Amino acid sequence: MKVLIATEKPFAATAVKGIKEVIEEAGYEVALLEKYTDKAQLLDAVKDANAIIIRSDKVDAEVLDAAKELKIVVRAGAGYDNVDLDAATAHGVVVMNTPGQNANAVAELVLGLLVFTVRNFYNGKAGSELMGKKLGILAFGNVGRNVARIAKGFGMEVSAYDAYCPAEAIEAAGVHAAASQEELFANCDIVSLHIPATPETKQSINKALVGTMKKGAILINTARKEVINEPELIELMRERTDLKYITDIMPDQDADFKQLEGRYFSTPKKMGAQTAEANTNAGLAAARQIVGYLKEGITKFQVNK
Ligand code: 3PG
Repeated sequence: MKVLIATEKPFAATAVKGIKEVIEEAGYEVALLEKYTDKAQLLDAVKDANAIIIRSDKVDAEVLDAAKELKIVVRAGAGYDNVDLDAATAHGVVVMNTPGQNANAVAELVLGLLVFTVRNFYNGKAGSELMGKKLGILAFGNVGRNVARIAKGFGMEVSAYDAYCPAEAIEAAGVHAAASQEELFANCDIVSLHIPATPETKQSINKALVGTMKKGAILINTARKEVINEPELIELMRERTDLKYITDIMPDQDADFKQLEGRYFSTPKKMGAQTAEANTNAGLAAARQIVGYLKEGITKFQVNK
């Protein structure tokens, strides 16, 4: 059996070493395709792969067509919007994710970016503090929960809204449960996005919603760029010169956002999950899930059931 690690954005070397150990111990072979620049390289590499470990790498119908021997794809991470699930199912390929494995890394980045923002991007001018500020967390999954835990350490007042998580479960984590997404945006100084990109959420963070935020509010996105209605957010930020947008996923309209000087920041490449720990956690989980599936048929984290 051949397991391909196909990562345009490579894992930390320690994670690759750990993945190799798990796969080789199972008696399988590892192939590595990192930092590829052309889809043709991926199409070639998948030809004889029985399993693939990916990150945000796109696995579409063309890739699945080329991967004639493929049985399983594991997205080492949470969001699997980069995999064509219907095409995978049609090809008889199991798709899994590794939920929670990189959540702390993303959550730490959220608070890091927030300190950077309220201290005026470290430009030397007097900024403000996070203690006492109202933080709204949109979606209370693994990342949202970790953000809440760390934000409470900063002394922030934390609220959350999640359409799929009952208010009692949010309250049980010591977080105020907002009654709606609208209430969350209207009442918080900062809103942190942790929703996946789905047909329901795409473009859902729009002018009407963000426009209700308080004076001087900050919107922070470490989720997906697709959830933002970029033209509407730009229009709003041109009208409301008090608003800031901070993102770990460079928007399509980065050049337009950049004109909103001092109120916009994007990391050059998504780096929320880019730590040795997160890479190792997610990479090893992916490797173990592949071995578990190929040897014992375990499908616990399958997302295309
Ligand atoms: C995820 O969905 O797990 C994160 O967005 C991480 O993505 P990455 O593996 O491309 O850094």
